[in-house]
Amino acid sequence: LPRTAVALGARRGDLQGRLVAQMSNGTSAELFTLLDEIRGKGPVFLSKLGAVVASHEAVRETLANPDVEAGRFVPPDSVLARIGAWSEIDVLHPVRPPSLLAVEPPQHTRYRKLVTKVFSARAVAQLKDRTQQIADELVAAIPAGEPGDLIASYCALLPVTVICEILGVPPGERHRVLELGEAAAPSLDLGLPWREFRRVESALATFDRWLTGHLDRLRAQPGDDLLSQLVTAQEDGAGLTDQEVKSTAGLVLAAGFETTVNLLGNGIALLAADPAQRALLRERPDLWDNAVNEILRYDPPVLLTGRMTVRRTTIAGAGVPAGRLVSVALAGANRDPDVFPRPHVFDVTRDNARDHLSFGAGRHYCLGASLARMEGAIGLRTLFERFPAVELRPGARRRPTRILRGYGTLPAVARTR
Ligand code: HEM
Repeated sequence: LPRTAVALGARRGDLQGRLVAQMSNGTSAELFTLLDEIRGKGPVFLSKLGAVVASHEAVRETLANPDVEAGRFVPPDSVLARIGAWSEIDVLHPVRPPSLLAVEPPQHTRYRKLVTKVFSARAVAQLKDRTQQIADELVAAIPAGEPGDLIASYCALLPVTVICEILGVPPGERHRVLELGEAAAPSLDLGLPWREFRRVESALATFDRWLTGHLDRLRAQPGDDLLSQLVTAQEDGAGLTDQEVKSTAGLVLAAGFETTVNLLGNGIALLAADPAQRALLRERPDLWDNAVNEILRYDPPVLLTGRMTVRRTTIAGAGVPAGRLVSVALAGANRDPDVFPRPHVFDVTRDNARDHLSFGAGRHYCLGASLARMEGAIGLRTLFERFPAVELRPGARRRPTRILRGYGTLPAVARTR
């Protein structure tokens, strides 16, 4: 939503405006209280700014509804130019066509089928050993008993190294991809301040130039990485267009980077503060997969996504007019008491934690969900097995992003006992 509209809405006490304002400034308790309030108003809250859905049923239905589109959420160029919120079209922008996130059927169906083949469960299973190896190396480099920032020394490094494996990036160029990933990830956050927007666009342009050369190298000499597979499929004549291959690489970098950093950081913060849950995980390591789902439910790396109603439609029994911007509160669905008893309690043994909607739902369901779950479980388990006590120090700071939610710094002392 444009910042001016949000500010105006927030001043007028509009719940949708308050929600967006709260997302970057509010404490967790305030944010989740507001989501409870919005959910309490009914399945769809119609606001001056559009609409909000915050119950589990309404979020699921919205994301599955063919009358509610993802691509249309992005306002047309003429509007963006007027509010000064966009520069040129960039193939690599994660919320602009031909990004998977910004196209709808039939283009989305064809494109998604081709990309899914490459991101299959088998492909993720093959990355598992390598992910473990990377986590072991990173954990071994964390000094025991000394203060340090776990985002910089651990959470940020694990996902980018895995993404480099996927994109076939040679080890010497990984630090560059880390820089670009850090700079490009906020591009998922609509409503960025203008200066920040320019910085992100310039990072995407740099990534674009680097990627053009990298794809040429892979075409000449394909490796066994996933991007090489997309390029090779292209040459067989059955694959993606050049723009789609580039856009997929950009989306993997933007959508797979900060989100996973947030999962790891949010998980460390929750578990470090909760010795009882840590003890449970020590006794029953089989609970780690469930713990990752509970972390995703309780403190989701993506708070909200956006949609637009392209015609009048019904969501969870409520009528919604055409042309409404819909804020789809994934974080609200995850705290719905009709689905999750005692929703504000963090409990790694919760038996339906997997029903969270932090990866979305429907046709745009996160392509990297199995990869992210695998990285989360290996990453957190490896850290807490080596350091059973992680003591948080003052100075933890959330990133100033709105839609993405996670820590920018997490000062802590990791102890072996
Ligand atoms: C889509 C969350 C990790 C690639 C999505 C969506 C969400 C999401 C909520 C749907 C957005 C919408 O419907 O508007 C997350 C979270 C992650 C994560 C919480 C980590 C904890 C990853 C990773 C990758 C990835 C590691 C890459 C390998 C994608 C792609 C889409 C997507 C390509 C678009 C799918 C489509 O539109 O068809 N993600 N994601 N994500 N994610 Fe993830």
